[in-house]
Amino acid sequence: MSTTFKIAALAGDGIGPEVMREAIKVLRAVEKKFSLNFQITEAPVGWAGIDAAGKALPDATLALCRQSDAILFGSVGLPDRDPTIPKEERPERAALLRIRKEFGLYANLRPVQLPKALAHACPLRPERQGDGIDILVVRELTGGMYFGQPKKTEDYFHEEPQVDANATVIMKRCQRAIDTMVYTTPEIERIAHVAFKAAALRRKKVTSIDKANVLENGVLWRDVVTKIARQYPDVQLEHMFVDNGAMQLMLKPTQFDVMLCENMFGDILSDEAAALAGSLGMLPSASLGKATGELTFGFYEPAGGTAPDIAGKNLANPIAQILSTALMLRYSFGQNAAAGAIEAAVGKAIAAGLRTGDIYTPADTSAKKVGTREMGDAIAAAV
Ligand code: IPM
Ligand code: MG
Repeated sequence: MSTTFKIAALAGDGIGPEVMREAIKVLRAVEKKFSLNFQITEAPVGWAGIDAAGKALPDATLALCRQSDAILFGSVGLPDRDPTIPKEERPERAALLRIRKEFGLYANLRPVQLPKALAHACPLRPERQGDGIDILVVRELTGGMYFGQPKKTEDYFHEEPQVDANATVIMKRCQRAIDTMVYTTPEIERIAHVAFKAAALRRKKVTSIDKANVLENGVLWRDVVTKIARQYPDVQLEHMFVDNGAMQLMLKPTQFDVMLCENMFGDILSDEAAALAGSLGMLPSASLGKATGELTFGFYEPAGGTAPDIAGKNLANPIAQILSTALMLRYSFGQNAAAGAIEAAVGKAIAAGLRTGDIYTPADTSAKKVGTREMGDAIAAAV
């Protein structure tokens, strides 16, 4: 008897479809080897959704997600086409943010690892890389400025003092934009638990990022995280202001184990951390909600975007998408052995010298430049 898992595969735009194809290839290899049964259903999202059904997240695609055990996502967004529709209907908001909110995916895990073989792709000097970079960014994903209300752009009159004898003030019509940063105690508590639990399985250190010297949100964040830390006596907690955190990532990235961030800071710092791993094309990400029964529903996507400039050319690195399937097997399906097999297979392909353009350097004479397809084939074969 084999275990069946339902997967909604939403490839999206740009390089999405070609890296998704390789990820599915690898899943099929894993399925055979571990006697699992993946029911993979593909559906359009992003501009592909708009073209197919008039919406970035077509109703049928959302329904499919609801019936699935996990969502394997590619990437969405084609900035060139943005001006043709209102901002609320664009894929980033209407598909990605909508799915996060709809499924309560509050915990975003972004592991950043620099494999030894790719040290050259890291922008930092070797001595700053220490024994290797291995950071887990835990980003809160459904709160803060992304979703806080009010959120709007409105007409506004600003006072413009005139330099005349009467000290006249002219009211000038302009616009103003408002975003609201808001967090409740329970929202901070639940993401803090995720960070401490993850750290307990790693190097047992949480660096909590905030701006407590300026923001009310920062003060509350620091308070709540400090309280939750008492439940995890084995894990060391350190607080860091976000500006310093950005700097420390460049100066001494090896000091970080788990970085706990609110939504916006996590968005920014996870891209910065990702640069350390040499290429966004290597980084997977998992967005998790509450566990229901035995399964934790999750959303799995590469950290990078749609890269329209290289789309359809067999140039994209499929590793981030492939590693995302490993996270899916681990977090949503509890299939640790199968997840480990995918990660080992990726390691094998890298060790064998296979490189897509983003991680290739001619200086490495044992490296061989390959395309999206060849990389996927090699990893599937290694499984
Ligand atoms: C990310 C992306 C998204 C975000 C965009 C595309 C809305 O940058 O997942 O990090 O800001 O969360
Ligand atoms: Mg981002």
